[in-house]
Order: sequence, then C-alpha cells, then structure tokens
Amino acid sequence: MSAQLGPGEQDRFATMLGWAIFVTFFILFFNIINLPRTPLGEREGMQLWHDSLGWVVGVLCLIRLYWFAAGPQPRPPEGMPDDSFSHSRAILFMLVLVFAVEFLIGIFYAWGEGRNLNFFGAVVPQLVETSETLRISTGYPHSALAFYYLMLFTIWLVLGWWQNRKYGAGWRRLFPGEKV
Ligand code: HEM
Repeated sequence: MSAQLGPGEQDRFATMLGWAIFVTFFILFFNIINLPRTPLGEREGMQLWHDSLGWVVGVLCLIRLYWFAAGPQPRPPEGMPDDSFSHSRAILFMLVLVFAVEFLIGIFYAWGEGRNLNFFGAVVPQLVETSETLRISTGYPHSALAFYYLMLFTIWLVLGWWQNRKYGAGWRRLFPGEKV
C-alpha cells in the first residue's frame, strides 16, 4: 500500500482521523478556554461537553497513535530532506500523544475532584476513590499540558513556514488532509 502513496501524501484512514481530531479538538478548545472562567457550581453543562468531547478526542488520538505505527508510512514531499520531514512528523506525533495523555489524566482528575464522568449524558461510574492527592497529582499536569500543546502548535506552524520557504512544500500540509 505504501508504494501507492505519492511523495508528501498520507493514506485515507490517516486523513479521516486527522480531520475528526481537528474538528473535535477545535470545539473542545473553546470549552477549555471557557471552563476555568465559569464560576464553580455553574459548570455542569461545560463539564458535560468537556468530558464528552474529551472522550472523542482521546479515543481518536489513541487510534491515531496506533495508526502512526501500523499504517502506511508517508514519504517526504518532493525536494524535502528526510530529516526535515521526520521533524514535522515527530511534532505531529507528540501533539496526538499529548491529547491522548490529557484524556487519560482527565479521567482521574475528574475522579480526584469527586465528580462522575459524563459521555453525552451517560454517566461513567467512579472507579478510583476521591482524594486530595489524586486531585493535585492529576489536576496540575492536566492544566500544565495545555501550555505544552500550545508550544507544539507554535513549533508546527514555524517549522511549516520554514519548510514552505526552503523546500516550497506549501501551507496545505499544515492542516488536515492527504498532504503531509
Ligand atoms: C474524558 C476526558 C476528560 C476529562 C474527564 C477531563 C477532566 C477535566 C477536569 C475535571 C477539569 C477541571 C475543570 C472542571 O471540571 O471544573 C478539566 C480542565 C481542563 N481540561 Fe480536561 N478532561 C478531559 C479531557 C481533556 C482533553 C482531551 C484535554 C486537552 C486535549 C483537556 C484539557 C483541559 C484543560 C486545558 C483544562 C483547564 C485546566 C485549567 O485551566 O485549570 N481535557 N478537565
């Protein structure tokens, strides 16, 4: 199957996953910005959306991580050296990995805060006892990783700009789609 992919192209499943993650995370991002700014006690609706979209982003990213390993490996766009291409693939991999980790930590953070998980109205039972240690040990990384993925986004855009300037790789490959 790899042989059928042209330079700078990825397979259809990776493309579909990319779009699904992009759209769901885009919506989740607005929830993430507003959730901590919503007064305590008025967060139920926001938390429902946060968890529900968080599940979708998390599961999609776990599948995407598997497909990074098991799926056909894309080749660099014409004129781009392997190491430069590997650099942008590594950033994309880390972004997806951080989202998946945020999902897994988020589950324990919600339990640490003594609240049930919600998946579009379906309540997922609490499997770990609420404790201050759990809340703190999961809450800080859950918040802090947000700054890490914002940094990864910035590097992705700067590297993409540089690869376009140096190798004429184009901007389209920075967004979901078959171009990589
Ligand atoms: C099932 C999945 C998830 C659960 C259960 C969860 C749980 C939580 C909880 C308990 C909070 C504290 C705010 C509150 O509820 O009052 C929170 C905030 C937050 N979550 Fe999640 N989360 C999930 C998925 C995600 C994902 C996938 C991301 C990012 C990719 C994310 C990023 C954040 C951020 C940035 C905050 C705000 C932190 C702050 O400013 O304090 N969460 N999440």
